[in-house]
Amino acid sequence: MLAVENLTKYYRTVRGVEKLSFRVAAGEMVGLLGPNGAGKTTVLRCIAGIVQATDGRITINGHDLSTQEESAKRSLGFVPEVPNPYDLLTLWEHLEFVARAYGKTDGFRDRGERLLHRFDLSAKRDELVLTLSKGMKQKLAIACAFVHNPPVILLDEPLIGIDPRGQRAVKELLTEATAESRSVLISTHILATAEELCDRIIILNQGTMVTEGTLGALHKRANMGEDKSLEDIFLSLTEEQEQVGPADSA
Ligand SMILES: Nc1ncnc2c1ncn2[C@@H]1O[C@H](COP(=O)(O)OP(=O)(O)OP(=O)(O)O)[C@@H](O)[C@H]1O
Ligand SMILES: [Mg+2]
Repeated sequence: MLAVENLTKYYRTVRGVEKLSFRVAAGEMVGLLGPNGAGKTTVLRCIAGIVQATDGRITINGHDLSTQEESAKRSLGFVPEVPNPYDLLTLWEHLEFVARAYGKTDGFRDRGERLLHRFDLSAKRDELVLTLSKGMKQKLAIACAFVHNPPVILLDEPLIGIDPRGQRAVKELLTEATAESRSVLISTHILATAEELCDRIIILNQGTMVTEGTLGALHKRANMGEDKSLEDIFLSLTEEQEQVGPADSA
């Protein structure tokens, strides 16, 4: 469903990500973890086509992002790290705008109403986006990623600023999406969320993949017993990488 091969992105001389390859199958949820600056947002923005990769190949729902850009992008829902909705549209107009932009107006009304209800935003339906609180804007951004029913969903730290009820709603949406054979790639710093939701986890550090696999596989690779948490594994693997980093670049 989503294939990333040898993805490399440099911002002038700064490495965002280097030679990263992974896949997210239909019905699978993969967590992208890593310390600040590890490259998570870079990977997601490259897949979403917002920044252009320096090298590598991205295939979304069978469409090559570089040669079939429109159909590749139509297959995506993307929750950016910092939502930037149009302030002067109402919530409903915003959802409708997104559905139209993706050419998916079939069933839009039902989906839109259900999403607003799930995020406790029904009462704000006809209010301007600029009147929303920060968490409400984040909820709207998530609703926009689902309103056109895309087969591949990317989320960049979607739970930040969202209340517990909203977080529960997001988790339910994601679980439903994978049950419907859609693919989810989610970046998060909340390790408990990754542990709870993700089938597989990718840990990045300094733009490269440190490890990848199921939680069980990560335990083995980190040489840590089952009693250790994902936090122990994360800290151990990313600390190690930090120590080899300077020697690497010397
Ligand atoms: N627009 C940009 N211009 C220059 N360098 C950038 C730009 N965006 C990101 N970088 C650099 O690329 C690297 C990866 O950044 P990225 O935003 O992908 O990290 P991240 O894993 O999402 O971090 P965080 O957890 O803080 O969100 C960092 O070294 C960062 O400084
Ligand atoms: Mg980021």
